[in-house]
Amino acid sequence: MSLANQVAVITGGARGIGREIALAFAKAGADLALFDVNPQQLEQTAQELRALGRRAEGLVVDVTDGKQVDDGVAKVLDKLGRIDILINNAGITKDGLLIRMDDAQWDRVLNINLKGTFLCTRAVAKHMLKQRRGRIVSIASIVGLIGNPGQANYAASKAGIIGLTKSVAKELASRGITCNAIAPGFIKTEMTDALPPEAKQRLMDAIPMGTLGEPRDVAEAALFLVSDAARYVTGHVLVVDGGLAM
Ligand SMILES: NC(=O)c1ccc[n+]([C@@H]2O[C@H](COP(=O)([O-])OP(=O)(O)OC[C@H]3O[C@@H](n4cnc5c(N)ncnc54)[C@H](O)[C@@H]3O)[C@@H](O)[C@H]2O)c1
Repeated sequence: MSLANQVAVITGGARGIGREIALAFAKAGADLALFDVNPQQLEQTAQELRALGRRAEGLVVDVTDGKQVDDGVAKVLDKLGRIDILINNAGITKDGLLIRMDDAQWDRVLNINLKGTFLCTRAVAKHMLKQRRGRIVSIASIVGLIGNPGQANYAASKAGIIGLTKSVAKELASRGITCNAIAPGFIKTEMTDALPPEAKQRLMDAIPMGTLGEPRDVAEAALFLVSDAARYVTGHVLVVDGGLAM
């Protein structure tokens, strides 16, 4: 699947799943712009991408700040000339049972995961509309489909991403822009490394394939959704979870 001459923006691209998507896209020939709040990891990943022979910009952009997002998109257009692909991947968890969840825990997760996805999608869609071509993929979660105790905020944000994805898909379909979501199950990253060993074992027991996923499992799904092979796929939620949610 070639992404030659295409430019992709990946939020939360400094590490984890975002970094893996960036590496997969670079290997497929795309140039990359990463938006993240972690300057050190951002530069390290941008260097890895340049080592693959691609142009890569690591931009410190907090996706919750509309001005930073708009300025970031303007910088990408200035430096890399176009944007063909947006991957909304920046996301966090702040878990807690409902009755103990405070407002700040709710607001922070909704702001980064859902509002950040809205702000980046709106900023990039304006440019894609002029181009009459584009691919938008947002990283949701199976938790947004089936819920999870202790993650009311996270589940709401990820279910919100699915509703946002389908609405944007309907708005932009006639303009050559597709908008899809990926719902990963449990993937081995620093986010899931934080889980206690007993919780990880319980999870593995519930996964039909018997193992956590790897970031590259999500990257391969993203590569398909942004490629020409998926030109007739929009408003879809692609579940990548080893069978957990079925
Ligand atoms: N790891 C999993 O099991 C799993 C499962 C389902 C969905 N997901 C989703 O996949 C995405 C990536 O997860 P991950 O496991 O790689 O997490 P991660 O914590 O390793 O990476 C997240 C990245 O987002 C960045 N980020 C955080 N806040 C930001 C902000 N305000 N603006 C810009 N960037 C910001 C972080 O600096 C980090 O580089 C998230 O949306 C997550 O919810 C992960």
